[in-house]
Amino acid sequence: MSADQLRPDRIPSHVAIIMDGNGRWAEAQGLERNEGHRAGIEAVRAVIRGANDLGIRYLTLYAFSSENWGRPQDEVRELMQLLDRYLVEEIDEVMEKGIRIRAIGRLDRLPPGTRKEVENATRKTAGNDAMDLVFALSYGGRAEIVQAARRIARDAAAGEVDPHAIDEKLFASYLYEPEVPDPDLLIRTGSESRVSNFLLWQIAYTEIYTTERMWPDFREEHLVEAVRNYQARERRFGKTSAQVSSPASTSVGTSGSEDPA
Ligand code: IPE
Ligand code: IPE
Ligand code: MG
Repeated sequence: MSADQLRPDRIPSHVAIIMDGNGRWAEAQGLERNEGHRAGIEAVRAVIRGANDLGIRYLTLYAFSSENWGRPQDEVRELMQLLDRYLVEEIDEVMEKGIRIRAIGRLDRLPPGTRKEVENATRKTAGNDAMDLVFALSYGGRAEIVQAARRIARDAAAGEVDPHAIDEKLFASYLYEPEVPDPDLLIRTGSESRVSNFLLWQIAYTEIYTTERMWPDFREEHLVEAVRNYQARERRFGKTSAQVSSPASTSVGTSGSEDPA
């Protein structure tokens, strides 16, 4: 599958990826799980290159979940070190490509060295605007929603937010990176069909693509295949197929899903 078989006018603006299957990939070859994480770095490089070539504007990679803190200590340590090293080694290429790095999640829980590298990378790339690369680190979708609710409650108590003015738009502005639009396409490798606490709010209408391929084997052509699959779909957002295929047809209801109290 090559990129020239894609429709350039229907490239998803935001692709999010649950990079799963490193451990099983390693175990299947009699290797340590950590070898799978190391091999996964090559797949990260490949999808960043691929996304950049396809003109995908936002790429979010789920690198470490809030639940992953419960893994064996040496695995957690390895993952943090890989992230550290990745950020140090890739920064020149990231700058060259004009990629802006962002990070979402409970960064305060990261080891100080890793956190420092994450902050350096986000600061150093803040002026870049060719593509946004968002790392979900120590990330949990429920925790993100809860922190938004807590901050809204605090601002309401301080008189800065009118409780009647709280709607979906205002709520979303309290999430980690409100400037990043919702994902159009969510890819999960490693053959599971679950969201594992990823971007719960943002994936309300995201197209989901799963593949049995394990993350260390994922390359540009597999990203292209996922995008091709996405392009063959009809996104209806609750409307009928006829409405979607002829945009001139009218609807009685409003387009939003707000239910004013
Ligand atoms: C994904 O691979 C990487 C992280 C979750 C950090 P896994 O480590 O979950 O691999 P499997 O699912 O055990 O094969
Ligand atoms: C999801 O993978 C998290 C990341 C890819 C970072 P997991 O392997 O942790 O997911 P579960 O536990 O199988 O749902
Ligand atoms: Mg897994």
